[in-house]
Amino acid sequence: MNKSSRLPVHVPLHKAPMGLWESLSAARHNLLTILPEIAVKQPMVSGKTGLRWHMVMDPGAIRRILLEKLDDYPKSHATKNLLRPAIGESLFVAEGTEWRWQRRTAAPVFSHRNVQALAPVMTTAAEKCCDRIAKSGPAAVNMMDEMVRTTFDVIADVTFSGDDHFDAKAVHHAIDDYISEAGKLSILDMLGAPDWVPRPGRLFSGSATKQMKHVADQAIEDRRVSGQRTTLDLLDLLLEGEDPETARRMSTGELRDNLLTFIVAGHETTALTLSWALYLCAFDQDVQKLARSEIQSVLDGRSATADDVSQLPFVRSIIDEALRLYPPAAIVSRTAQVADTLCGREIRPGDTVMIPIYALHRSELLWDDPNAFRPDRFADRKSIDRYAYLPFGDGPRICIGASFAIQEAVIILATLLGRFSFTEIEGNDPDPVMILTLRPEGGVWLQATPLE
Ligand code: HEM
Repeated sequence: MNKSSRLPVHVPLHKAPMGLWESLSAARHNLLTILPEIAVKQPMVSGKTGLRWHMVMDPGAIRRILLEKLDDYPKSHATKNLLRPAIGESLFVAEGTEWRWQRRTAAPVFSHRNVQALAPVMTTAAEKCCDRIAKSGPAAVNMMDEMVRTTFDVIADVTFSGDDHFDAKAVHHAIDDYISEAGKLSILDMLGAPDWVPRPGRLFSGSATKQMKHVADQAIEDRRVSGQRTTLDLLDLLLEGEDPETARRMSTGELRDNLLTFIVAGHETTALTLSWALYLCAFDQDVQKLARSEIQSVLDGRSATADDVSQLPFVRSIIDEALRLYPPAAIVSRTAQVADTLCGREIRPGDTVMIPIYALHRSELLWDDPNAFRPDRFADRKSIDRYAYLPFGDGPRICIGASFAIQEAVIILATLLGRFSFTEIEGNDPDPVMILTLRPEGGVWLQATPLE
């Protein structure tokens, strides 16, 4: 097939409306299959599957939900029920005043200066990843596994590292198990399935979660005694944090819940972004070559650091385009609290209001050639409607770790593309499947050839 007419992998959206049982069984395997094809052709789609629900793809209406009427559209019960057992009433889950004080306290932790200071950890993790790939010889590499490991090295090193009691591997497993089990639960809840429908996730015992919390508490207590590390990490910065309005500080439990939140919300999402970006670079060798010439002129053979990020706009645009085509948080959802009107339609209290970011990013009303991989569409950022592109959400609840994630992704992608050339392996395309996040099922298997 002609290169320009080939499209990167995507989810076939269904044409005919699905009934309750059909949606439930389809969604068990891939939540994105609940999206109808009209979601990329219309600003809003509504229906009833147990609960009344709406999918909103209109930038103006999304702005209203995420910014103007924030308190009328809190996170959905499904999201909260799903995450609460692991991360308590932390920043991600809390609402109202409980959320506001935590957000005010945590915001300075992610200031530009603090995020930049953490870059050496990202560079080191990228270099270790290159060493592992080089040692694995000419065999094909599952870059998804590599990226999960690399981003976990980063997040473990900027949260609890250096603490004797913190067993990074045990926490990693507990989190991965939790995400895969809990994801099954959310699909059924989001669609409003009656309570008697068996939820496989409910079988999850919670003992791994308990163990994970215990290990984290111990690490926090140890740090209180041992004092700050030479380069302040996220734990030091949060320990130092104080709500500028009330002077309230976080207790050990609150610190633990928020640090675990950073791990849960930040590690897999960034690994997915990088995995999809690498898949896309292998898919389009011309883009990969353009990126490499930018990288070689800026880095000249060395690894990327914080100072290089602003000098690598094309690498950044590959990350942006990967986040458009495969947004890790592909659907965000809210529960309406008060009656409202969106796109001229009635919203009743209790309705589920979903923002299917995946469909928004592929809307024919908002994007030119939406299914094509074209990083150059981000060359002029101002031309993109802010509420048409939402990989990190928006409004006051926008992802607190967005600049951390972008910096990490650019450093790792640039370092990898500077050392290796990546090519596809025929018949091994990943399948985009959303359980809790949008993952490349089957992994991202690529041939990595060292560059001389
Ligand atoms: C590419 C990587 C990432 C993506 C795509 C992503 C995406 C998102 C999205 C869409 C939201 C908003 C959810 C909603 O409104 O329902 C969010 C919130 C959040 N993210 Fe991220 N995230 C990423 C990386 C990170 C990192 C690295 C961290 C921390 C180190 C992080 C921590 C959080 C937290 C704490 C929230 C909740 C903020 C609040 O409600 O005030 N995320 N993220």
